[in-house]
Amino acid sequence: MKYPLLRPSPPRLSLLGGALAEIERSGTFSNYGPINSELERRFIDSLFRGVGSCVTVCNATIGLMLSIKYAVGRYYGCELDEWPAARKYALMPAFAFAAIPHAALWNHLRPLFCDVDPISWLPCMASQERLLEEFAGEVAVVVTYATFGNNLDLPPYLALSSRHDLPIVVDAAASLGSRDEAGGQFGTGFKYPVVYSMHATKTFATGEAGLIYCNDDRTISALRVMGNFGFGELRSATMPGLNSKLTEVGALLCLKKLEEIDAILEWRQCLADAYRQNLPELTFQVMRGERHAYQFMPALLPIELNRNRIEVVERLAADGIVVGTYFSPHLAEQPYFTKYARPGELPIADRIGARIISLPLYDSMTRPDVDRICESVRRVVRSVG
Ligand SMILES: Cc1ncc(COP(=O)(O)O)c(C=O)c1O
Repeated sequence: MKYPLLRPSPPRLSLLGGALAEIERSGTFSNYGPINSELERRFIDSLFRGVGSCVTVCNATIGLMLSIKYAVGRYYGCELDEWPAARKYALMPAFAFAAIPHAALWNHLRPLFCDVDPISWLPCMASQERLLEEFAGEVAVVVTYATFGNNLDLPPYLALSSRHDLPIVVDAAASLGSRDEAGGQFGTGFKYPVVYSMHATKTFATGEAGLIYCNDDRTISALRVMGNFGFGELRSATMPGLNSKLTEVGALLCLKKLEEIDAILEWRQCLADAYRQNLPELTFQVMRGERHAYQFMPALLPIELNRNRIEVVERLAADGIVVGTYFSPHLAEQPYFTKYARPGELPIADRIGARIISLPLYDSMTRPDVDRICESVRRVVRSVG
């Protein structure tokens, strides 16, 4: 048997003939059309339980770029890049994906990397606090991240925002479907932008698509205008803008995925639980909240194997099992970002980064598949160690 790390499963394109013909007949292919409007309504009603507003985007990276620009501009009462020049950093976790520092750099903000929690792998509050004290008045925005779909505790970020006088943006790329302790979709009710991805490799798989949610209508209205060239009523630019719109075909895929997402999440949770039970020799991320949109199964190799990770990955590949190493190298180890970032102490991100592997997880996997992979992992770990 061969096991890829991921097997993208967007809604079955071959079954969408009628709906695609309907789009063709309507003559509306983009520009926040009727299918997109229906999708946004359904997201708010079914996932966010009627609380807040949302706007679709063509992908989450563009969603982060727009959200940072808007959050910073609004907070400091300015447009373009006219916020106080001293505020030149965006604070973000080092153990995260390249989309965050890229989105900051497109906004002329340099990455300032904080460390992560050793247990939940979420951004470490103490590390963020320390850096905000040390760089008081120099940080324009905190971009935090709900690591691998884990439910970040959001209320402390409101306190952080007030204490240090700055806005927040949340990267929730892998979190569509994750539920917090109260059973609500992660992000529900948050007053700063929360950005989700619906990339083909995510659990909420489509192709390329993203969503910005915020419990503030004004924010979402402004982001909608910014995502359509900054056009006000008369196709005349009134705000900074670009084109972030999702096509009607893209919105149709999202609508179809929304119909099946609960069953997908339940199944992935079963597979994840099986991994946890079968592999006591690995260390797993401790999850907060009620449900998690597992994209793959991340785990830490035993500490004594951290110099042998390449060998472990190669031996598993020889067994037909493709294993990833997300997010290693972490952001502060990537040359383009280190050119612009402040170097800092990141002991936990370094340690997690050195030991992490990502095991296969996808919708069509079975329990016996997990058993077979675990057997192979146990054998390889024993023989390499
Ligand atoms: C943590 C994180 N942030 C942002 C993104 C970017 O999402 P998109 O591919 O929709 O631009 C990803 C995508 O993999 C991600 O994992």
